[in-house]
Amino acid sequence: MGAAAPVIAIDGPSASGKGTVARLVARALGFHYLNSGSLYRLVALSALRSGVSWEDEPRLAELAASLDAGFCDERIIWHNKDVTGDISSESVAAGASQVAALPAVRSALLKRQRGFRQPPGLVAEGRDMGSVVFPRAELKIFLTASAAERAERRYKQLKEKGITATLRILLQDLRERDARDAARSVAPLKQGPDARLLDTTAMSAKDAAERILAWYRGADR
Ligand code: DC
Repeated sequence: MGAAAPVIAIDGPSASGKGTVARLVARALGFHYLNSGSLYRLVALSALRSGVSWEDEPRLAELAASLDAGFCDERIIWHNKDVTGDISSESVAAGASQVAALPAVRSALLKRQRGFRQPPGLVAEGRDMGSVVFPRAELKIFLTASAAERAERRYKQLKEKGITATLRILLQDLRERDARDAARSVAPLKQGPDARLLDTTAMSAKDAAERILAWYRGADR
């Protein structure tokens, strides 16, 4: 039954705005929403809290397999605690990018991600939604924006949360993460041959969501 539910896969680099866009699309269609990056961030956070190194593949895979994660609206719950703020820090983002490069961690999270495919449908965002997790997704998008624009968006996001950051360092961190995510041997960040490119450098999240909805509704499929 779950297997029949349609999937819209939205992949792309850090801070491209895919989270905001994916949520808008999911809301418009009444679909479920999967923020797969939060799972990698939770693995990095649980490692940090339990003294496991971000390089210890076997133990990280165990943490990933037994992750006590919950999603409540836009909040991320871990062991009954709201950790949305904790996992959005730059240090957890760096750890997530490291643990995400480990094949055992990725396969430990695979089944859990596929479980989100439930009627009436799913909008899933991450790096390998269209290539590995939902290869038969109805619509695949590669959503991106220039590195400078992404750093700027991230800067504004942090500022709104009262977190101080330096634009130059954010840009440098983004480039490092992009390079690591794109260079890894398993499920690297890249536009698949069957994914549509959506460059949002000069586009609002609302317009990007509308473009995706138009594609999905078949106007241009
Ligand atoms: O989307 P994000 O910034 O929250 O993702 C955090 C890290 O997790 C990022 O460095 C890449 C990794 N990731 C991944 O490898 N595969 C996914 N499907 C989602 C995220």
